[in-house]
Amino acid sequence: MNDKLAAPKGVPEYLPPESATWLAIKDFLSQQAVLAGYGYIELPVFEDTALYVRGVGESTDVVSKEMYTFTDRGGRSLTLRPEGTAGVMRSVIEHHLDRGQLPVKLWYAGPFFRAERPQLGRYRQLQQFGVEAIGSDDPALDAEVVTIADRGYRALGLTGYRLEITSLGCAQCRPAYREKLVAFLEGLDLDEETRQRARINPLRVLDDKRPEVIAQMADAPLMLDHLCESCAEHFGEVRALLEAHGTAYVLNPRMVRGLDYYTRTCFEFVHDGLGAQSGIGGGGRYDGLMSELGGQELSGIGFGLGLDRALLACQVEGLTPGPTTPLDVYVVPLGAARRQAALLVGELRAAGLRTDQVFGERGLKGAMKAADRSGAPFVVVLGERDLEAGVAQLKTMSTGEQVPVPLTDLAAYLTTSLSTRTENHQ
Ligand code: HAM
Repeated sequence: MNDKLAAPKGVPEYLPPESATWLAIKDFLSQQAVLAGYGYIELPVFEDTALYVRGVGESTDVVSKEMYTFTDRGGRSLTLRPEGTAGVMRSVIEHHLDRGQLPVKLWYAGPFFRAERPQLGRYRQLQQFGVEAIGSDDPALDAEVVTIADRGYRALGLTGYRLEITSLGCAQCRPAYREKLVAFLEGLDLDEETRQRARINPLRVLDDKRPEVIAQMADAPLMLDHLCESCAEHFGEVRALLEAHGTAYVLNPRMVRGLDYYTRTCFEFVHDGLGAQSGIGGGGRYDGLMSELGGQELSGIGFGLGLDRALLACQVEGLTPGPTTPLDVYVVPLGAARRQAALLVGELRAAGLRTDQVFGERGLKGAMKAADRSGAPFVVVLGERDLEAGVAQLKTMSTGEQVPVPLTDLAAYLTTSLSTRTENHQ
């Protein structure tokens, strides 16, 4: 077989050194959920197809066009998870997590699968970090969830994004609003395809990007102006709490989310530097989802932040969160010092220093070249004569300066040097 193997179309891979930034992004974002008391949940990557049909909604693009569905050897229809919320809900119901303390607060991270047309920032295997908080409709929980995402982005150093929020109303006020919108749409001059879209979900016409549709939709009725008293009060409180948290937002009353389960508070984080795929994260409240999936009548709220897009946003803003070097120290043994060097490498790693060494017979010149390419800021050269004297030569790569350091002090010496180095970098 001569065909070259390649990763499937639309599936990104993250290789060193970029993958260190990838891991750091996941850590920085999820740290905010840990700080707010969310517990980690590891979920199946595939589930019964029915879960997504019932949970996400048959009329959505995600379910009708983008699912990776297959029949297993037992004849069951399974689907690679296109999103995380339905799976979390299924697990909470199945394992009775909703019978304990409420709200149940969970976070997750990993790959999701959507058969979309690939382009920069839009992938068939995408990764998300997400949270779900189930069992309370307190607006304080809405503000907490939104703020966790915002704090996470800030911790990465991102500034070129905005938070858009709206309220989609509830089972009380949405049907009447929907009727109003349908009546309004009937009076417009829309092409058949748009009418078809409107029949499935009239709200989708609100975020149509074509100028001729935008112009006609200028006076369309908006959900925000038709909220019932209780939704209006809820949304007002969410806004006041976001302001109290110092979480800046703009209202986007025309926001349309791609999944059917949303009610009340909905939000999206939009980055201006990413072109067409500008949504770096989004979420909202989903008051009917749990009962739809056979559980109690409990409400919930959560978000999914696109990790692939967060990485792109960091690249656009010139940010590299996480360690600035792939290694702390690189060890170069000379001649018969190899076994001693192996011991030293072990000791340095045990002291928490990211340590690697040269492998193979390289000679001093080749070994120093390898040391240089390793990216470690410090190199330890261990020769036979130094060993007899109980020292190693420590070279600082940025200055080229080399000093003998007693082997017994080496780990402590390096730890101190690295911490002053980090301080100088900050
Ligand atoms: P979503 O808006 O479909 O929501 O996806 C969340 C984020 O995942 C998007 O904002 C985007 O950054 C990223 N994303 C989605 N599709 C792709 C793709 N094809 N390629 C790259 N990134 C992508 C959800 O999935 C909901 N489950 C979020 C949620 C949780 N709502 C409540 N709880």
